[in-house]
Amino acid sequence: MPMAVLSPLFLLLLLSVTFPAAKSTAVQRNHPLRLRFGTNGEFKILQVADMHYANGKGTPCEDVLPTQFASCSDLNTTAFVRRMILAEKPHFIVFTGDNIFGFDATDAAKSLEAAFAPAIASNIPWAAILGNHDQESTLSRKGVMQHIVGLKNTLSKVNPSGVKTIDGFGNYNLKVGGVEGSGFENKSVLNLYFLDSGDYSTVPGIFGYGWIKTSQQFWFQLTSAKLKRAYMNKPFPQKTAAPGLAYFHIPLPEFSSFDASNYTGVRQEGISSASVNSGFFTSMVEAGDVKAVFTGHDHLNDFCGVLTGINLCYAGGFGYHAYGKAGWSRRARVVVANLERTAKGNWGTVKSIRTWKRLDDKHLTAIDSQVLWSKSSVGGVDLNL
Ligand SMILES: *[C@@H]1O[C@H](CO)[C@@H](O)[C@H](O)[C@H]1NC(C)=O
Ligand SMILES: *[C@@H]1O[C@H](CO)[C@@H](O)[C@H](O)[C@H]1NC(C)=O
Ligand SMILES: *[C@@H]1O[C@H](CO)[C@@H](O)[C@H](O)[C@H]1NC(C)=O
Repeated sequence: MPMAVLSPLFLLLLLSVTFPAAKSTAVQRNHPLRLRFGTNGEFKILQVADMHYANGKGTPCEDVLPTQFASCSDLNTTAFVRRMILAEKPHFIVFTGDNIFGFDATDAAKSLEAAFAPAIASNIPWAAILGNHDQESTLSRKGVMQHIVGLKNTLSKVNPSGVKTIDGFGNYNLKVGGVEGSGFENKSVLNLYFLDSGDYSTVPGIFGYGWIKTSQQFWFQLTSAKLKRAYMNKPFPQKTAAPGLAYFHIPLPEFSSFDASNYTGVRQEGISSASVNSGFFTSMVEAGDVKAVFTGHDHLNDFCGVLTGINLCYAGGFGYHAYGKAGWSRRARVVVANLERTAKGNWGTVKSIRTWKRLDDKHLTAIDSQVLWSKSSVGGVDLNL
């Protein structure tokens, strides 16, 4: 091969191997939005369900005490988001749908911006998915998701890249890296899945809410398998998948598997899942990595129950322009994952995942603190051990 051909090729090779690699590392390591555990070995997520935001100050509250109506509006929802952020200082905020109540929102884009404003102002990375009411204003479901991904500090995606066919808008996953400087700094030690559970059935004869479709489950399975392989590969190959958490709006039919003897929290209304079971729970059981699912949709339910090793959790209603129960505080769910120390004293992989809720009362009272998963758990709780 003549030199003239070889050297540009060689240069190209050099460029593509060394220069962009070094560049992307710098970008990755310093990227403010890349999720990773804090230097205290902790990663905290705030879940805000069902804000039902409309037009702000002029939008009244629903189901508050008679004495509270006059001074209550969407701005109380905003104030609650702000207070939660200040109180918990989460690393990440997830909005699990019905972010806006489309029927009453005169301009969907404006309502979305107002609804997410406290998260945007906090400079904390955040993500959102769709409920069944987000598309009822001036934007379609696709339009809402496209508008959300253009907002500041969000890690939301319309859909995963490289996937040609997937139902819905707002299916994506996010990786949470280990502590910077630890052996797990380049590995995802906690995986977050976000899915669009749809709005309403479009199948003739099947009434009621939407569901997670086969195309979405296929994407989930491939993604979970890919993440598992990476986690079990060098460096520091692990024996099982990293724990995963799934967020979507409409509860699965399996949320009906509990009664007061085996959940934490309350169930004050029926489980409004789809009238058919699309099998996503079984897909998660097969994949083996998801330890907890977090939904909204039923504002009066705020429980967590565990079925076949997977916690099924509601966040409880958050927004004031949403149905609720007068005298029963609006609330939010917090999830914290903690890392274990390695033999050498460095931060390792996830040791435990805990949750609690906070009420929008004077002191943001924390309730129902519980361990959802821990690495050492035995007796059928963690099926991966
Ligand atoms: C709504 O916010 C106003 C203004 O801060 C406050 O006076 C009122 O008590 C709040 N209402 C509720 C139900 O929290
Ligand atoms: C993580 O990646 C960076 C850049 O490639 C490298 O310098 C560092 O040594 C890696 N850390 C570990 C623990 O492998
Ligand atoms: C919860 O307890 C009830 C009996 O009180 C039982 O029928 C049900 O199967 C239990 N659910 C789970 C998920 O263990």
